[in-house]
This record gives sequence, structure tokens and C-alpha cells, in this order.
Amino acid sequence: MDFPVFHLDILGNRALVAIIAILHVLVNHGLAVGLMPLIALMEWHGVRKNDPRWDNLAYRILFVAFIITTTVGALTGVGIWFSVSLVNPYSIGSLIRVFFWAWFVEWLVFITEVCLILAYTLTWKKWASGEAKRRHVRLGFALATFSWITMAIIVSILGFMMDPGNWLSENTLLAGFTNPIYLPQLAFRTPLAAAMAGIVALFLVPFFVDRHDPFRLEASRAIALWTLIASPFVLLGGWWYYSVIPGTMMENLAVSAMTLQFMGWLNDFLWIVALTVLAVLITVQLTIVSRRGVPRFAYLLPLLAVFWLTGHFERVREFIRKPYVIGRYMYANGLRVEDYPLLRRDGLLAYTTYSIPLSPPEITAMPDRPTGTGYQGAIERLQRGKDVFMTACSRCHTTNGVNAVATHMQRMFGDRPWSPSLTLDYLSNMHNAQPYMPPFPGTQEELFDLATYLELLQRSATAVAGAQQAGSVLATPPGRSTALRPLEGRQ
Ligand code: HEC
Repeated sequence: MDFPVFHLDILGNRALVAIIAILHVLVNHGLAVGLMPLIALMEWHGVRKNDPRWDNLAYRILFVAFIITTTVGALTGVGIWFSVSLVNPYSIGSLIRVFFWAWFVEWLVFITEVCLILAYTLTWKKWASGEAKRRHVRLGFALATFSWITMAIIVSILGFMMDPGNWLSENTLLAGFTNPIYLPQLAFRTPLAAAMAGIVALFLVPFFVDRHDPFRLEASRAIALWTLIASPFVLLGGWWYYSVIPGTMMENLAVSAMTLQFMGWLNDFLWIVALTVLAVLITVQLTIVSRRGVPRFAYLLPLLAVFWLTGHFERVREFIRKPYVIGRYMYANGLRVEDYPLLRRDGLLAYTTYSIPLSPPEITAMPDRPTGTGYQGAIERLQRGKDVFMTACSRCHTTNGVNAVATHMQRMFGDRPWSPSLTLDYLSNMHNAQPYMPPFPGTQEELFDLATYLELLQRSATAVAGAQQAGSVLATPPGRSTALRPLEGRQ
């Protein structure tokens, strides 16, 4: 606990990582890993058939991919590093220790990929015929291979975070790299990337080939065929992946996919997913059988659908391993499982270097000042409670924003004051009630501090709402002035 706490209270830290990482996955799968082999194939096909139309189309699609991967793709790739190091420095620290050499190789492979895409794009017009053209086609396949290798390395780390497998006892890079989820996940993502790229290309073709040109239908059909061939492998890989997810994680599936509030809708949601996949496949199939082709706006549906489905899949994958950030090794709050006995003995705050001071609205929301020395003690207790919250809960919760602890408590307790005695029981058992939350890491005293802070949150939430109504930020809600009594009683 020797890093400062970085906390975004409105969106939540999870959202910061999610937005950057999901954007990166969509660009990586749909425009690099899946698209580069398709473009290389199109170029190769054009050479073989001696048909410059294929060459032209391949180049234009490459140009779009080139612009997006070298800007959005590269920036979000680096952005993942920044955001995860801010949000969970302990987990990224562990991953660097285990995967140091894998990341080192990844860096070399990535640099090679960047050089290759530059060379491939910039030499397209120059190396236009004869032996030079053949060399250019080979460059395309080399680029496709290196794009895939960057993904193949990173996917191992994602699998490791879900289930480190033998690494827990062997502690070697090899054991971590060959974790049980690695190959199934790779078998799923590879065809997924190919299918996504097919759909991206289908969407792009009408922009580059005129409606009256018969080549538009010919190219769309070939790309649709590529997508259809990849599809059963996506389903097979997905099934394999699904089958190796540890049973305890499957219990999180409903909350992962739907959030706590809407988890009852899981079945309806799965139907929507199945129907969406079917609609995507029908659009692709129609491209092949229809004699006049499919109108260009129809490709917007599969495009948005695969982006949405892939994005949602990433959310579920990130969520389902909770309460861990690295399966059975480190909880999402950045605390190692093996350190829990120590933290419970000495207290969480004994190892916490940084503190986030109580905010002015929180101090304002303190009850009427009790006379005498109790007040300073109350502030210190609340400050400790806030520090405990920031260390133990804030990687997943905000106070009042997205996934706010205040909203959850409101749902559980309604308008009743969340007196510490009421919340204590819940907090000491929260990991049993909701297994995606880690057990509480500190001492009983710290638990009480946290409960007292949560009570303050309720009061400050009411104060803010009351102030908005009354037009005054300093309003103290009526009838709440005795709510801190249990706290005073303990001093
Ligand atoms: C691993 C991430 C994680 C950590 C750490 C965590 N929670 Fe949660 N908690 C969640 C999630 C996720 C939910 C459910 C969110 C949803 O889908 O609505 C939740 C729900 C809750 C609820 C509502 C539960 C219910 O039954 O309705 C409360 C209260 C809560 N958390 C309090 C806390 C407190 C206090 C801490 C710190 C001691 C904490 N949580 C730590 C992830 C976490």
C-alpha cells in the first residue's frame, strides 16, 4: 500500500480502464489481427488473377486500417498501460514480475509490426509489378503474422489473470504463460478477429467501389465467404473457452453480464445476443446469395453488433474473475490473498502510506458538533474510515458515482440511517453474500471506522440532495443530528 490512491469518483476507475481497453481490442481485432491477413490475401488474389481492381480495393482498405491502427490503436495501447498502472499498480506490478520477458519480446514484436505496416503501406505503389510486387505480397503476410503474434502474447496474460494455473505453485514464466485459459482464449480470439475484420471490410467496400460496378458484388461475396468460414470457428473456440472457465467464476456470470440490478434479465439478454448473432450471419449470407447485393446501410447492423458483442464480452471477462484481479493470488483491491492474515492482525492502515482527506461536503455533513473533545475524535475516525474505503473498496466502487456504494446501501437499507451497527454485519460477511467482492481485509476497529464513514456518506448524499432542493450547500438535513450516536458511544 505504498502508492497514492488514484480515484475517479464519478465514472469509477473501472470505467477508465474499460473505455480505453475495449476501444483498443476493437481496433486490434477488427483492423489489425483480422484485417491484415484479409488484405494480404486480397492483394495476392489480385496478382494471381492479374486483376488491378482487387489491388486497388485492398490498398484503400489498408489505408483506413493504417490510419486508425497507428493513431487510435497505438494510443489506446499505451493508454492501457497508463490507466492500469494508475488504477491498480499492485496488479500491474505482479504481472510485470511474472511476464517480464514476455513483455520484452512483445515490445520487439510490436516494433516490428509498426515497421512492417509502414513499409507495407508506403511501398504499395512503388513495388507495383514483377518480383517487387511478389516481395510486397510477402510483406503483407509477414505483417499479418506479426500482428497475430502481438495478440498471441498478450492473450496469455489475460488468461493468467483469470486462472494462473500451475504458476501458483511453480512461480515460473512458463507455467504462467501456459495457463489453462491461454489456448482456448487464443482459439476463440483468432477467428473472432477474422470475422470482425470481414464485417469491417464488408462495410468499407461500398465506399470504395461504385454501385454499378459488378466488382462490388464480387468483392463483397468473397469477403462474406471469408467471414462465414471464420464464424463456426468463433463458436467452437467460444465453446472451448467457456468450458475451461473455473466453476466458481461461472457464479458471477449473471452479474457480469447484467449488473446486480438487472441480473434477472440474463435469459432475455442471452436471447438478444443469440438473435443478434443470427442477424449478423443472415446479413453476411444474404451478401453471398443475393443477386443484386445488400444495400450499404445494412452493413451498419453487423458492424455495430460485433463491436457491441465484443465490447460486452470484454466486460464479462474482466468481471467474471472477481473478487480477484489475478485469480486466487490477488484481490481486485490490489491486496494479495497471502497478506490477508497480516492485514487482519496489524490493520490495513498500518501498511497504508497515502490518505485522501475528507472532502468539504463530507465535513459539512458531519452532525451538529458535539460539545467537548468528541468532535476531533469523530473526524479522525471518519478519516480512517475513508482511508479504509479508498484502500479496500475504491478499486471497484465510487462513493456516489457509477457503482456507488451509497446507491447500493440505499437499495439495501432504504431510508433507514445506516448506523454502523447495521452495516457492520453486512460488511463482515459481504464476500459470502456477494462472492464477487473480496473479504474485508482489516481489523474489527477498521471495519467500524468504515461503517461510520458509510453512515456519513448517507448523510452527505442527503445533504447534497437537500441543498439542491433548498438552494443551500450547507443545509443539514432535519432529524439526522443524532445519527452519529453509535460512534460517540465507542469513544
Ligand atoms: C472486486 C471489486 C469490489 C470490491 C473490492 C468491493 N466491491 Fe462492493 N460490489 C462490487 C460489485 C461489482 C457489486 C455489484 C454491482 C452491480 O452489479 O450492481 C458490489 C455491490 C456492493 C454492495 C451492494 C450489495 C447488495 O447485496 O446489494 C455493497 C453494500 C458493497 N458492494 C459495498 C462494498 C464495500 C463497503 C467494499 C469495501 C470494503 C466493497 N464493496 C468492495 C464489487 C466490489
